[in-house]
Amino acid sequence: MYLNHPLPLLLPLILVNANPPINDILTSTSVFTSTISTLQDLNLTSCCLNHTILNLEYNQTALPSPSPNLTVQYVALGRGIQNYTCTNDTANPTSIGAMATLFDASCIVSADQKLFHRLPNILQSVPVETLDFFASFASLAGPDSAILGEHYFTASAQPFFDLRLSGNEDWAAAKKVASVASPMASMDVPWLKLASVDGVGIKEVYRVYTAGGASPATCEGMTKAFSVDYAAEYWFYG
Ligand SMILES: *[C@@H]1O[C@H](CO)[C@@H](O)[C@H](O)[C@H]1NC(C)=O
Ligand SMILES: *[C@@H]1O[C@H](CO)[C@@H](O)[C@H](O)[C@H]1NC(C)=O
Ligand SMILES: *[C@@H]1O[C@H](CO)[C@@H](O)[C@H](O)[C@H]1NC(C)=O
Ligand SMILES: *[C@@H]1O[C@H](CO)[C@@H](O)[C@H](O)[C@H]1NC(C)=O
Ligand SMILES: *[C@@H]1O[C@H](CO)[C@@H](O)[C@H](O)[C@H]1NC(C)=O
Ligand SMILES: *[C@@H]1O[C@H](CO)[C@@H](O)[C@H](O)[C@H]1NC(C)=O
Repeated sequence: MYLNHPLPLLLPLILVNANPPINDILTSTSVFTSTISTLQDLNLTSCCLNHTILNLEYNQTALPSPSPNLTVQYVALGRGIQNYTCTNDTANPTSIGAMATLFDASCIVSADQKLFHRLPNILQSVPVETLDFFASFASLAGPDSAILGEHYFTASAQPFFDLRLSGNEDWAAAKKVASVASPMASMDVPWLKLASVDGVGIKEVYRVYTAGGASPATCEGMTKAFSVDYAAEYWFYG
């Protein structure tokens, strides 16, 4: 039964592979144990989000709230890369987009949002290949898929969220409306609010609790094009 769902498989693996060591991340083994038993009692995908609201924990007045007529439709853990280019050693890296797999996090976030907020940091250190391997245990489409969708940039450099992979109808071509530095670390890409300019179902998207993805300050020693691993929470409102 659990083979159909990568997250229970994934989580122990993530915890074992975590760097810094897991004790620095989850403060006690009791958290780990209760997490695993909580997960085993839960559905792992497509949980109800009607009573879930984004709690940023930080005093983040700089990031505007979602429009009042919108509700949370999907919550995902994104894991992927941020791409940059460099023209010469003294230039600053230029962001040219990103690509990420979006894993359905509705069950984790509705069960324990504080735990969920810790996952981007942990996931960032797990190789994408490992995640892909575990995700391959899940069916790639349909309501039970652990993969909610994908995020990438179009040829015209527009951020795009496609949730149709998992059998939903929802997608959004978006634009950034607000950005605030990550309160956690300078190596983390900023927290963002994006708004849909075209699409189905999704009106606003938040990228928060980012882990990694930021470029070095200058291009010194960097190749012409390079990528930086990142993970983040994505909240979709519609
Ligand atoms: C889990 O899924 C089953 C079948 O879809 C559903 O009946 C049940 O209410 C779900 N439980 C939770 C906690 O979402
Ligand atoms: C969640 O909200 C939607 C829209 O208001 C409603 O149709 C649906 O029945 C609700 N689901 C649950 C499990 O309460
Ligand atoms: C958040 O910031 C506002 C404005 O600086 C301040 O009035 C408020 O007390 C802060 N709230 C918390 C919980 O720190
Ligand atoms: C929410 O309100 C905004 C502005 O008031 C409007 O543009 C938008 O279409 C509304 N969205 C929905 C889903 O009703
Ligand atoms: C390096 O690239 C930047 C940005 O493209 C440019 O402004 C600068 O003149 C370049 N410097 C050298 C030494 O080529
Ligand atoms: C980012 O880099 C990867 C790996 O080089 C590449 O496959 C992908 O197309 C790039 N995406 C963007 C938006 O630049």
